[in-house]
Amino acid sequence: MTTLFEKGALGDIAVKNRIFMAPLTRNRAHPDGTPHEMAIKYYKQRASAGLIVAEATQISPEGKGYVNTPGIYNEKHVEAWRKVTDSVHETGGKIVLQLWHVGRISHTSLQPNGGQPLAPSDIRASADTFTESGVEMASTPRALLTDEIGQIVDQYAHAAKLAISAGFDGVEVHAANGYLLNQFIATNTNHRDDQYGGNVANRARFLLEVVDAVSAEIGAGKTGVRLSPTGTFNDVHDEQVEENYTYIYSELSKRRIAFLHVAEKFPGIAVPDAGLDLLAQLRNEFDGAYIANGDYGRESATESVKAGAFAVAFGRPFIANPDLPERLELGLPLADVNEDRLYGGDETGYSDYLRFEDNERQIAGVTQ
Ligand code: PHB
Repeated sequence: MTTLFEKGALGDIAVKNRIFMAPLTRNRAHPDGTPHEMAIKYYKQRASAGLIVAEATQISPEGKGYVNTPGIYNEKHVEAWRKVTDSVHETGGKIVLQLWHVGRISHTSLQPNGGQPLAPSDIRASADTFTESGVEMASTPRALLTDEIGQIVDQYAHAAKLAISAGFDGVEVHAANGYLLNQFIATNTNHRDDQYGGNVANRARFLLEVVDAVSAEIGAGKTGVRLSPTGTFNDVHDEQVEENYTYIYSELSKRRIAFLHVAEKFPGIAVPDAGLDLLAQLRNEFDGAYIANGDYGRESATESVKAGAFAVAFGRPFIANPDLPERLELGLPLADVNEDRLYGGDETGYSDYLRFEDNERQIAGVTQ
């Protein structure tokens, strides 16, 4: 039986424990998508994770849906990310980059030349984005032409190549949480009648083309995928979850990807028991490393790994506890996250959370 503190290998990526850091949007990059210098310290502080899945990062200017998110499509991005990966590696950690295209979850003010966001169909999301002016509803998107889809597949492969040249240990293709690849899978967002819509194989085609192109570029052993089969965040309402994901899990299994990372729960959204049962059933279709994510604590994570998950990824607990693996191993109390400082801003609520012992020392110093 595996514990949270055992080393192992995910495809080509050797990890020192099963406590991973989930991808977390923090909106602190420069407006041109270059990650901020603050990110070097933030990720280094969390290098005791078995694996860091760095925040969702747009593969192209059109892939952006929120203010100040980072990109991975030009040399400037590569140079800045290189400093982050170097600092994590120097500290003994591993880090992969999450490749992101938001699709319809964007706003014209965030798009090149104020254009419409791109999507499978021209159906507007009932969801918010975050622009220079604050929270705004996602704009009405434009349906992609069939021959534009191949260009986006190429953008994913290009971004994966740049991620490796920036020193990442691999990438995670983001096909979860209502963004572009998830929009092609779900029934309410994809009303296409070409080879990318209609039946299950057509709905999964774009994702599998991306996985194949990224794997051809950097190797399947460095390619992971994130899915949220039962998720409803960003106005996803899929009426055929079981059919769609039975097919997708088994196709990903054949491709021998490094890992499948599943957002089982999303903060603030309840998942009915039937949804959790379905997630458990789907797992039988995937023969490979499964990373569980969503509202796990010390006990549930221990149980999950004992029962066969390769690892558990923690989001908010890793923001507030940079030394999370040590705290879990020693049974130390966990600090709470400051909800007001999640998105945007400076080092406050970002790189100023302390390790347990440093926090104790600071408290002792103050009271002496
Ligand atoms: C967000 O920015 O709110 C966000 C980004 C990526 C996710 C989920 C949420 O997968």
